[in-house]
Amino acid sequence: MLPTPPPTPDGDDARAPGSTASSGAPADRPPQVECRGLTKRLPSGARTLTVLDGVDLSIRAGELVAVLGPSGSGKSTLLGLLAGLDRPTTGTVRIDGRPIEGLGEDELALLRRRRIGFVFQSFQLLGNLTARENVLVPLELIGFEEARARADEVLAEVGLAERGHHYPSQLSGGEQQRVALARAFAPRPELLLADEPTGNLDPATGNRVLELLLGMRERHGTTLVLVTHDPEIAARAERQVHLFGGRLERDTGAAPAAAASRGA
Ligand SMILES: Nc1ncnc2c1ncn2[C@@H]1O[C@H](COP(=O)(O)OP(=O)(O)O)[C@@H](O)[C@H]1O
Ligand SMILES: [Mg+2]
Repeated sequence: MLPTPPPTPDGDDARAPGSTASSGAPADRPPQVECRGLTKRLPSGARTLTVLDGVDLSIRAGELVAVLGPSGSGKSTLLGLLAGLDRPTTGTVRIDGRPIEGLGEDELALLRRRRIGFVFQSFQLLGNLTARENVLVPLELIGFEEARARADEVLAEVGLAERGHHYPSQLSGGEQQRVALARAFAPRPELLLADEPTGNLDPATGNRVLELLLGMRERHGTTLVLVTHDPEIAARAERQVHLFGGRLERDTGAAPAAAASRGA
C-alpha cells in the first residue's frame, strides 16, 4: 500500500515506470547528473580562493558514487553545487540533461524538495519540530499525497516508529541521523546527496547508519553520491571519485567513450 508520488504539473520529470533499479539506463538517456568545467572561486581578502577547479563528472541513474578527498578539497562545495544550493562561478550542472543554472529560485527549490534528498554531517533537523514533523512537514510543503502515511512508513523503515513524538534534543546522534535519512527518502527522491553522513557519529553508530543508508538506497533504487574521507566507507561504493585541491584527480568509473560520443 505505498502512496504514489504526486503528479508533476509541468510533466517534465517523468520517472521510469516502476522507478527503481535504473542502473541499466539506456545509453541514449542523458546522465542523471552531469557537471562540466565546474569552478567555484571565492574572494579571500585581497586574493581569490579557487575551491573547485574545472570539475567534470557524469553520474548515471542508480549509481553509487563515493566522493573522497582530504578536508578542504571541495567535497561539500561540489555537493552543494550538484543540489543547486550554491551557484558555480563557471561551468554547468545538468540534472537529467537540463541545466539548473537556468532555473529560478522557486524552480530550484521544487527540484530539491521533490527529486534530490540531502543528508548532512550535522543532521540539520529542526529543533522545534518532532521527529515525525521533521519528516512530514517537507512532504506537506510539496503536496505529497498521503503525506502522513508516508512519514510513518519511512520512520518505521529507519526503526523509529515509536520515537516520532520526540524532539531532536531527546534523540541520540544516531537516532537524529536516522530521522534525517527518513526525511531525505520520504519524497522518493531519484538522487540522494550525503555529505559525511557518519562524520559526527562514533564508529559503531556510524556503521549502523551507513548500513541503513545503503539498504534504503538499494531498496529505493536511488542514485547516491556519498562524500566521505574514510576509505573503508568509500570501498562500499562501486565507483570512487577523488578530489584534491578542488580538482578531480581520479575517477574509477568515468565513462569517457559515452561522454565523448555525445559530442560535448
Ligand atoms: N563560504 C566560504 N567562504 C570561504 N571559504 C570557503 C567557503 N566555503 C568553502 N570554503 C573553503 O573552500 C575549501 C573547500 O571547502 P569544502 O568544500 O567545505 O571542503 P571539504 O568538504 O572537502 O572539506 C576550504 O578551503 C574552505 O575553507
Ligand atoms: Mg565537507
